Amino acid sequence: MCGIVGYIGTQPAYSILIDGLKKLEYRGYDSAGVALLCAKGLKVEKAKGEIAMLEARVGNNFPEGNMGIGHTRWATHGAPSDINAHPHCGCSQEFAVVHNGIIENYLSLREWLEEQGHRFISETDTEVLAHLVEHYYDGDLLRAVSQAVKMVEGSFAMVAVCEQEGDKLICARKDSPLVIGLGEGENYIASDVPAFLKWTRHTHILEDGEMAVVTASAVSIFAPNGQLLQKEINEVTWDAAEAEKGGYPHFMLKEIMEQPRALRDTMRGRLIDEGRDINLTELALTPQQCQAIERIFIVACGTAYHAGLVGKYAMEKILRLPVEVDLASEFRYRDPLLDPNTLVLVISQSGETADTLAALRLARKRGNQILAITNVVGSSVARDADKVLYTWAGPEIAVASTKAYLTQLLSLYMLTLYLGKQRGILDGQTIAEMGTALCRLPTQLESILGREAELQQIADYLAPWESAFFIGRNVDYAVAMEGALKLKEISYIHAEAYASGELKHGTLALIVDGIPVIAMATQSAVLDKSLSNIKEIKARCGHVICFAREGAISFAQEVDRVFHIPAAPDILMPILSVVPLQLLAYYTAVARACPVDKPRNLAKSVTVE
Ligand code: G6P
Repeated sequence: MCGIVGYIGTQPAYSILIDGLKKLEYRGYDSAGVALLCAKGLKVEKAKGEIAMLEARVGNNFPEGNMGIGHTRWATHGAPSDINAHPHCGCSQEFAVVHNGIIENYLSLREWLEEQGHRFISETDTEVLAHLVEHYYDGDLLRAVSQAVKMVEGSFAMVAVCEQEGDKLICARKDSPLVIGLGEGENYIASDVPAFLKWTRHTHILEDGEMAVVTASAVSIFAPNGQLLQKEINEVTWDAAEAEKGGYPHFMLKEIMEQPRALRDTMRGRLIDEGRDINLTELALTPQQCQAIERIFIVACGTAYHAGLVGKYAMEKILRLPVEVDLASEFRYRDPLLDPNTLVLVISQSGETADTLAALRLARKRGNQILAITNVVGSSVARDADKVLYTWAGPEIAVASTKAYLTQLLSLYMLTLYLGKQRGILDGQTIAEMGTALCRLPTQLESILGREAELQQIADYLAPWESAFFIGRNVDYAVAMEGALKLKEISYIHAEAYASGELKHGTLALIVDGIPVIAMATQSAVLDKSLSNIKEIKARCGHVICFAREGAISFAQEVDRVFHIPAAPDILMPILSVVPLQLLAYYTAVARACPVDKPRNLAKSVTVE
């Protein structure tokens, strides 16, 4: 996600802020900016592109100052541009704010502030924060920020400065990390420790709802009720490389662990009232437009294609609409049959995959309506599609996709509910049942993520093998395909996924004593059938590792190892069942000493055909 840096002390702030922002570059960003308090007041500079662009713009002429804030932005609301970059100011340029997170009610706040005479210049949600602080300012910045954040729904980590109170930075957080670095006669604020690790290892971690006043000589932290807190000082023991990964040994593990947060961000403001209703306002499709859809064509590559396969099961089951899923590289050369009432759904984490983009453009030429699910605002796919549903996974750094895939699944489920509602085929109760089940998933996922040790043991069994099989029925088959892809791309074990019912048509010939077979068994409707397929493998002495839905007790007696997955409605199970497969691939790759984050021959974004 975006990066925040703040400094107050005696050193020239500009170089400290730039240095801190560079330490956060690994998180991915598309623009950068700083606001510095100097003799003539607040000086703000920002630039689209890399930090080097900002430095080039500033040159050697940036005024001196000993306090300021900086930001690397990864676009959410509004494309990457100079104007949309942070810091954002109020009307008067006396206030500046940097912010990470998403303000859900920014449109209504913006309207209200405009009625009060405020003028906005960017497309961002963040700009409302700057205007709110300005609006409430009466000589006390802490009070103004506190009133501003009370108005805001959503998530935020923010730092505010104002000219009138040049001796302090005010920060606040909710659902987005913020850390304060403690120096001698100087203090730091950052969204992530690497930004100030060069200067200090002593930190205060801000918790949700807390606010802080940071001066050069003191840090005061306040509880949500305004009470002054005595917070402990934490010492960072990680080195710089570990700190970038949040203390995890690899980005992939960090990103797997971030998935509950990524899901919550992606559903925020869309699954309303704890899931009792759905609204994808960004799509702005009328009921008539939704009813006119006669077929859906999903086009994607790699992991995104596997997400599309899950989407097919969900959409066909719930919407009773025919859904076809195609690999973008095939779609573009096979002269697909697209009639005018076919909605083309393009899924791409990066939004830049060459084949996916070419497929999109082919569909555009044919005159079809195109809806994109992507993680990158302003990407080519986002720009070329008619409608965009963004996943809010945050930048993904490991080549093997995890959190992007999971948020693609969530987006497909939300899209299904939305289309069902707009087409008038889902009643309020059904939407509420599915929506509340979706809202429970992040917590259920947390319970799975706490069971790493079980998966490490399974990985130890898997690691010496050069071949493994994944099987599943129904939507479990789609998950098996993703599990096999994860394993092969990072551990280099040859892994293939099969529909369980297909085993006896060929693959069974490959089952030899002890060979690992990962069997998915999460679909209540076909549990018996899945068990029969498992028995076929056991009869040939295969080693069955079963990922079974909680309550499917009989499986434990039939298989060699079992990992139980908390129960959710069948169709939603992929969000839970794929995560242990990600961890299994991860620990197997670690056991085989593979370069987990950068597997050989692979790239994160494939921009060639
Ligand atoms: C590459 C990545 C995969 C990804 C695929 C599609 O192969 O390594 O992780 O699934 O591209 O990428 P996209 O950005 O379009 O989702």
